[in-house]
Amino acid sequence: MEKKKLRFGIIGTGAIAGMHAKAIEACEGSELVGVCSSSVDRAKLAEEKFSVPAYSSVKEFLANGNIDVVAICTHSGNHLEPALEAAKAGKHILLEKPIEVSLARADELIAACEEAGVKLGVIFQNRLKPGYLHLKKAVKEGHLGKLLLGTAAINWYRDPDYYNSSAWKGTISGDGGAALINQGVHTIDLLLDIMGQPNSVFGQVRTMVHDIEGEDLGVAVVNFESGALGTITGGTSLYPGSPERLEIYGEKGNVVLEAGEITTWNVKGLKPESVDNKIGGSGASDPMAIDYRLHLGQVQDMVDAILEGKDPMVTGGDARRSLALILGIYHSSRENLMIDLTK
Ligand SMILES: NC(=O)c1ccc[n+]([C@@H]2O[C@H](COP(=O)([O-])OP(=O)(O)OC[C@H]3O[C@@H](n4cnc5c(N)ncnc54)[C@H](O)[C@@H]3O)[C@@H](O)[C@H]2O)c1
Repeated sequence: MEKKKLRFGIIGTGAIAGMHAKAIEACEGSELVGVCSSSVDRAKLAEEKFSVPAYSSVKEFLANGNIDVVAICTHSGNHLEPALEAAKAGKHILLEKPIEVSLARADELIAACEEAGVKLGVIFQNRLKPGYLHLKKAVKEGHLGKLLLGTAAINWYRDPDYYNSSAWKGTISGDGGAALINQGVHTIDLLLDIMGQPNSVFGQVRTMVHDIEGEDLGVAVVNFESGALGTITGGTSLYPGSPERLEIYGEKGNVVLEAGEITTWNVKGLKPESVDNKIGGSGASDPMAIDYRLHLGQVQDMVDAILEGKDPMVTGGDARRSLALILGIYHSSRENLMIDLTK
């Protein structure tokens, strides 16, 4: 007998919604049953595009859409409001990165899901790139020994049109900033997933090239709870954009990933496994150069979390940690101070 599929609905039918729709349809445990756009006109277009009923009111969608799980694909500074409605309606939530644009809004979102007893998963699809999974396993099994240094470099480029064509990208209220919180957050999430809790950060950010409120260039030094050090560089001004790099150095060796692919593997006594590097892509210069199969993995993980009563792969708490670090970098740059992240 075929297993019952969980019914997913999507709120926000812009660029990333297509990736969610494809992933939800491709996943064995889920089906797309409806979408919700921000206006009647957009809902009409979305109904044609996604071939499912489309709504223009979040409340009506949640009340009548026959949904188990809501994928929230609205802009980053508007994740909270639809999430509060969805949690109140008892729907599980799979939410795009970053969790929100301020810690107060992220905390309200996490608390609402806890109170309503619904699962909250956050999309950080690069956690599922095969090269990254191989690195994580090696670290977890102790093959790199004590971790000493982790560096994340997201030295990307976005065309001025990328910002000019959007009402929210690069704005403080809509995006929370720019290069680090929108683009860099993916690799910063990986850095923290490997290196652990950051205790303090010193950062400097600049707006050098684009006509935006947020930063298009930034650097930071991170002190981890473990005693290890970290560095971060990021930008959307660094033409033509290089594949993002994650470098992890331990007492017994080091591994470098470029766009999730293992490019250096120097681990004492452990050869690299051959992994499928074709699942991946880099948004170095094109924001949509991402592989839907990674979103598919997170949809599957969400289905498993709901059916098996466990936490999703990336929880609200995990996603809060990368947000806190990035907001700490902004704070540090404004005040020219090292920011304590333990408070
Ligand atoms: N995981 C990734 O690699 C990835 C890639 C791109 C974007 N994103 C994230 O996805 C989110 C959306 O980004 P995007 O590029 O798709 O933006 P977008 O501007 O293309 O789409 C956002 C959509 O949300 C709609 N919207 C806003 N408020 C709404 C509401 N209350 N009800 C219904 N619809 C509403 C807007 O009309 C718009 O169509 C952002 O948080 C972004 O950071 C993630």
